[in-house]
Amino acid sequence: MRWRRFSGLLERPGVIQGKLIRLWSVERHDLLKNYQWANDRELIRLAGMNPLPKSVWEVERWYETSTTSPNTQIFAIKSLDGEYLGNIELADMEVRVGRAEVGVLIGEHSFWGKGIGSDAVYTLCKFAFEELRMHRLEARVLEHNERARRIFEKVGFKTEGVERESHYSEGKWWNVKLLGLLDRELDEP
Ligand SMILES: CC(C)(COP(=O)(O)OP(=O)(O)OC[C@H]1O[C@@H](n2cnc3c(N)ncnc32)[C@H](O)[C@@H]1OP(=O)(O)O)[C@@H](O)C(=O)NCCC(=O)NCCS
Repeated sequence: MRWRRFSGLLERPGVIQGKLIRLWSVERHDLLKNYQWANDRELIRLAGMNPLPKSVWEVERWYETSTTSPNTQIFAIKSLDGEYLGNIELADMEVRVGRAEVGVLIGEHSFWGKGIGSDAVYTLCKFAFEELRMHRLEARVLEHNERARRIFEKVGFKTEGVERESHYSEGKWWNVKLLGLLDRELDEP
């Protein structure tokens, strides 16, 4: 019902259109889901997030920082009918050399394995190369996170190296894989 009222907005230029998803700006009314995701043990484990319990105030502070930082562009991943599923970002952007790091999280577990993550990564990379004149995108993936590695490889990222034991969680040091993608290498998944 709500979406019928706002249906004109779905085509607005500020929304980036993918095949299965659209990328929107993250709004203040999206914060409750982010609070849940930031405290979800499985997401923390897979994405290598800070394992401490996060308060509402900390999530609000994260929102203020990531939506105002000139080096970060964060987007809400929404299904075609408007359901908020996760976030994707360009972080540590270096505009002069056209480089940034891609991070992605589908917070709603029931949507994993349906092609959403691959489409979101492809859609954002295409936008970054074509509209933001990025030349090189990077991603860092924990060695145990095969699903994440797969989605980056599906759109053309190549493993370029391993940061040995650079992440600590659950009483153990983990290797982190560094993946890279040049603008001429993007593949549709
Ligand atoms: C990682 C994530 C973004 C992937 O999104 P998704 O929508 O689940 O992924 P997709 O459905 O597009 O693709 C998953 C791919 O991984 C493959 N896959 C799943 N489990 C796998 C495993 N254990 N080993 C290898 N490949 C695996 C699937 O077969 C599929 O590849 P295919 O299309 O070639 O068959 C999502 O699962 C997520 O947010 N996970 C938690 C947070 C996280 O890990 N973030 C990434 C931090 S770098």
